[in-house]
Amino acid sequence: MSIETNFMGMKIKSPVIVGSCGLTTDMHTLKRIEQAGAGAVILKSVFEEQILQEMSNSLHLSIDGGNSSEAYYYIEEHIQEQSLDKYLNLIRQAKMELDIPIIASVNCVSSSQWVSFASKIEQAGADGVELNMFLLPSDVNMTTDDVERFYEEVIRNIKRAVNIPVSVKISQYFSSLARFAQKLSWMGIANLHIFNRFAAQDINIDKMEIEAANVFSSPSELPHLIRWTAILSNIVHCPLTSGGGVHKPEDVIKLLLTGANTVQVVSAIYENGTEFIQEANERLQSWMKEHDFEKISDFKGRLSVKNNQYTAFHRVQFMKYFAGIK
Ligand SMILES: Cc1cc2nc3c(=O)[nH]c(=O)nc-3n(C[C@H](O)[C@H](O)[C@H](O)COP(=O)(O)O)c2cc1C
Repeated sequence: MSIETNFMGMKIKSPVIVGSCGLTTDMHTLKRIEQAGAGAVILKSVFEEQILQEMSNSLHLSIDGGNSSEAYYYIEEHIQEQSLDKYLNLIRQAKMELDIPIIASVNCVSSSQWVSFASKIEQAGADGVELNMFLLPSDVNMTTDDVERFYEEVIRNIKRAVNIPVSVKISQYFSSLARFAQKLSWMGIANLHIFNRFAAQDINIDKMEIEAANVFSSPSELPHLIRWTAILSNIVHCPLTSGGGVHKPEDVIKLLLTGANTVQVVSAIYENGTEFIQEANERLQSWMKEHDFEKISDFKGRLSVKNNQYTAFHRVQFMKYFAGIK
């Protein structure tokens, strides 16, 4: 029996991959991630703003056009912690010491000259690059087309700049998500990653201030991911990575059944350690054995939406009989 699969055109030993986060910045943890049996790892993102700043060596960027000061300081701090050279060295070292694919990540909010940095990522030996893209649709002057064009432009530019496979991590916030995801998948990307997660804010009512909300996902996010994995997996023309709300080993099986090619975990590793990866692999193997499956393709996508047929995944409103609650 084998739990091998493909990720961005590479054969990997497990469909469980560790997503971009603070844990994927140091060699010690990366080694533990590999030892625990992850199929691949996505390094912490470098920020487009960071690339531009190092390029121009001066801070004259408009980050969000409005209240940018906090974002600005965050980026400054992040830059001090993690210079681009350090990032490229991490890629080189990880490539020397690990066997699993090492995917670099860039967090981008525009299609500017930062794209040239991607070729340095390639030269450093990264097996691929993931673009963590999000444009908050808060600008009343931007139409749906403007927003979508931004994503397309970035992908076109990055594809011109590198020869390594490109994965695109998107959010669910598109007015026609299925159509747009399909359009992106036609652009020669090697993987579509649903969904990215945002730094969220909370309100401190005593101080009447904005503060950071919990950064980790919760298990209640999984059904949303399952729905979209089921809907998108037969619509997109590239493999799908699903992540956001995976907290139990069984969740990996659920996402494979609904058509994910690979499953990304982050919060579960913060909460349970890298052992979670091993547990997820073992649970997958024991479940496959119980059901007489030899390989992942024997069951992958079995519960996905096929030929646009109407399924339970299309039910979005509460109904008495559906929830079983009066
Ligand atoms: C502390 C922390 C840092 C993160 N940093 C990044 C990042 O740099 N780039 C990125 O694409 N996603 C980042 N993420 C989001 C994760 O990659 C992932 O998409 C998200 O946590 C949802 O997956 P989960 O439910 O398994 O946690 C971060 C998440 C956490 C918790």
